[in-house]
Amino acid sequence: MKMNALSLMLFAGAALAAMPAQAAGDLNLICSADVVICEQMKGDFEKAHSNIKVNMVRLSSGETYAKVRAEVRNPKTDIWWGGTGDPQLQAASEGLTLEYKSPMLDELQDWAKKQAESSGFRTVGVYAGALGWGYNTDIFKSKGIKEPGCWADLLTPELKGEIQIANPNSSGTAYTALASLVQIMGEDQAFDYLKKLNDNVSQYTKSGSAPVKAAARGETALGIVFVHDAVAQIAEGFPVKSVTPCEGTGYEIGSMSIIKGARNLDNAKIWYDWALTSEAQSRMKDAKSFQLPSNIKAEIPKEAPRFEGIKLIDYDFKAYGDPERRKALLERWDREVGAVAN
Ligand code: G6P
Repeated sequence: MKMNALSLMLFAGAALAAMPAQAAGDLNLICSADVVICEQMKGDFEKAHSNIKVNMVRLSSGETYAKVRAEVRNPKTDIWWGGTGDPQLQAASEGLTLEYKSPMLDELQDWAKKQAESSGFRTVGVYAGALGWGYNTDIFKSKGIKEPGCWADLLTPELKGEIQIANPNSSGTAYTALASLVQIMGEDQAFDYLKKLNDNVSQYTKSGSAPVKAAARGETALGIVFVHDAVAQIAEGFPVKSVTPCEGTGYEIGSMSIIKGARNLDNAKIWYDWALTSEAQSRMKDAKSFQLPSNIKAEIPKEAPRFEGIKLIDYDFKAYGDPERRKALLERWDREVGAVAN
């Protein structure tokens, strides 16, 4: 059969109309987890949705919160994936994120659903991980430093200038550490502890996992981080040991939120539903991202630090993701710790 130009156009038009309606265009994503998993997620999503181009920026959790807040009148971000839940809960409380009830919610662990319910469905849990530290076993051996198993051990003068932790203003990891210590010790004692710890801290980094990467490379002896970030360095072959403290420790519910006023809302919802699937979450281990996945059916990596073996506190996400509480704790940290930092 021969077709002239007009019938060809009509044929092509009819074929297009018969295809299911699909969103196309861009998706502006801020990713607050590690850059390797951020890039893998972007790649996997673009493979599954080849008509959507993801513009991804990696920013720490506290930095993302500040950016989303600053852009409230003219949002440039559609979706915020990963990073700790507290700043996302704060954004939810302030109406910066959009209510969305994903059809995937039923497939999630209770802790992930609770995060959604307590925020009026303005955020949701995507993974979880406990706080601790990783230390360079070679440095500890060569300097003859006792291996620290408890928060109290980190105050030893032997560790002077040997510890790194992030700044809790930029980093969700460091805010989790601050809020965990307040919950374990009480606020005044936690600040006394942090002021003493400051004598041993050489650097407050911007990103949460940087301290253990520095420890792995022998640039510092110990980094206070989420333990899965220490395990990732072990998996890379570095001489690192991971610890969860004997007094107890806090944990994160890594979260995801759609930004209110998102310009590419349909695409944001497509990402949101996809990121909650067991397929997407089971791939995280391939980027050495060893958190506990929120989808019940997702594969738990064998390297993932299991909560059963860790002395976890009953971290109060609602209270420490509250705007007033988070703001007050960060201001106190700036005054009492940040201002006297080396
Ligand atoms: C690392 C961890 C994540 C965590 C994130 C927070 O990437 O693997 O589980 O959510 O840090 O980053 P931040 O820089 O805000 O501390």
